[in-house]
Amino acid sequence: MLAPKDPMTLREALQQAARELRAANVPSPVLAAELLLMHVTGKSRAWLYAHPEEPLDTAAADRYFELVERRAAGAPTQYLTGHQEFWGLDLEVTPAVLIPRPETEHVVEVALARLGPAFHGESAPRPLRVVDVGTGSGCLAIALARELLRARVFATDISERALAIARRNAARHGVLDRVGLVEANLLAAFAPRAFDLIVSNPPYIGRKEAASLPREVLEHEPPAALFGGEEGIEVYPVLIAQAAERLVSGGLLVLEIGYGVSERVEALLDAPDWREIEITNDLAGIPRVVAARRA
Ligand SMILES: C[S@@+](CC[C@H](N)C(=O)[O-])C[C@H]1O[C@@H](n2cnc3c(N)ncnc32)[C@H](O)[C@@H]1O
Repeated sequence: MLAPKDPMTLREALQQAARELRAANVPSPVLAAELLLMHVTGKSRAWLYAHPEEPLDTAAADRYFELVERRAAGAPTQYLTGHQEFWGLDLEVTPAVLIPRPETEHVVEVALARLGPAFHGESAPRPLRVVDVGTGSGCLAIALARELLRARVFATDISERALAIARRNAARHGVLDRVGLVEANLLAAFAPRAFDLIVSNPPYIGRKEAASLPREVLEHEPPAALFGGEEGIEVYPVLIAQAAERLVSGGLLVLEIGYGVSERVEALLDAPDWREIEITNDLAGIPRVVAARRA
């Protein structure tokens, strides 16, 4: 009789997974293999590397290699683990929401910088009224609520499923009492002069560019979160016009923008309604955030 096969060690599991992911052309295969193993074992990366000879029991190995197979077939790691970090916060993500991108943190940075430190803590001179349009996972709304301690924040989306995730994330980070979740088409549901700060990372990819997207994005992330229209820029004129009505005088608009559209978005703000227009580049040097103050 053959002896039962020994369970794999953590090192062997990681090495095999990285090989399979590399063969499937998954970007950063070792990182993906590590993140999935951390998820299955509940251990940190440091622990895994400090205990490479530990066995991975058969049930855990089955779960691990099922996830590796799904990653190899194109499912993003974050949808497999259910987590993505944003602004130092661990957020739940599912295929109902866009996976928050690191460059979107610039929207938070620009908004906080333009408001100034007086508004950041408990001693803000007055409670700010803030809205995040197209909140997805809730990343922008929650990050701002955590920084602007006296702010009342609204998080809107046309997707009910996304709002359910945003609600869970707001609760998880202790700001649900100050973050109102509203199913709405952009800012249509809100009254004139309702806000001091409007932020948004709207859908801005053109449908004509769909074929050039990585399969992880095109086949897995929600189309409503990706595509702004045939060109991609279609949401901006509508959102900017609505924001001009909904901001108080002196209020701030901070928008993430897609690659190559900064001049066209800037042109939309070249009107008497707006002043102090500023474009901020991301770490790759790409214009990523446009901010403007309501005149
Ligand atoms: C690019 S994603 C951004 C999600 C999140 N704010 C982030 O930065 O990760 C755009 C979001 O806008 C939502 N959305 C698309 N069209 C919308 C509309 N007309 N009104 C409100 N939300 C919309 C999508 O459902 C999606 O959640």
